[in-house]
Amino acid sequence: MAELASASHNVVALDPSRLPTHVAIIMDGNGRWARAQGKSRLFGHDQGYRTLKNIVYAARDLGIRFLTVYGFSSENWRRSAEEVGGLMDLMLRAMRNEIEELVQNRVRVRISGRLHELPPDLRTELEVAMERTRHFDGLIFNLAINYGGRAEVVDAVRSIAKRVQKGEINPDTIDEQTIASHLYWPDIPDPDLLIRTAGELRLSNFLLWETAYSEIYVTPVCWPEFTRDHFVEALLDYQRRVRKFGAVPEE
Ligand code: FPP
Repeated sequence: MAELASASHNVVALDPSRLPTHVAIIMDGNGRWARAQGKSRLFGHDQGYRTLKNIVYAARDLGIRFLTVYGFSSENWRRSAEEVGGLMDLMLRAMRNEIEELVQNRVRVRISGRLHELPPDLRTELEVAMERTRHFDGLIFNLAINYGGRAEVVDAVRSIAKRVQKGEINPDTIDEQTIASHLYWPDIPDPDLLIRTAGELRLSNFLLWETAYSEIYVTPVCWPEFTRDHFVEALLDYQRRVRKFGAVPEE
């Protein structure tokens, strides 16, 4: 915390009692940032990995409980074979490089997405990371890989339908809680704050069910240049919001 305070002039303005429990991030702009300086898109993703590491430990230092980041969407397979292969290699390398430090810091790793469609070596590495950290109680770092918000709802509906077929669920009793409890990680609360870097104003199929009442913060800063200071700025902006959840706030 002392390190963070010295690195960030505005961290002292944060109210520790009103931090978001769950922050979700769409880490956008790696490609644009790299191309703007004549570098390859993969160079941008490499820098994006450094930013991600920095923000994971910033979240941990600040006492955020859950951090979910969009690493690879179910639509990202449409990119060139070179970029998809480079991203798969980068995620494999990152997991292998970071696992010991994550364990030392008691960060619990979760993965959201269709793991079975990933290359087997990456899938194994991700499963090992989840297994090795599953008893930890620090930051829960949820990495969305081969993730789509609609696919997640489809997967939930399929598992509910199977349980209906077995007679375990009465269709007339299905409600929002039934759906929520069949999503990938029912024990992770909905994000309070969704951050998107690089300026686009869309959800891009990220956490569609879970972000129903999330506060959205968009910054023009591209992900490779997003710092701890920018992160704290987003948290400060969140703390200035009045959350209503559809109700009228008291005077
Ligand atoms: C969006 O930028 C970013 C991605 C599709 C990949 C995110 C990956 C990282 C941050 C790398 C590290 C990840 C892990 C899990 C180690 P973009 O390429 O869509 O940027 P653009 O919109 O400028 O083209």
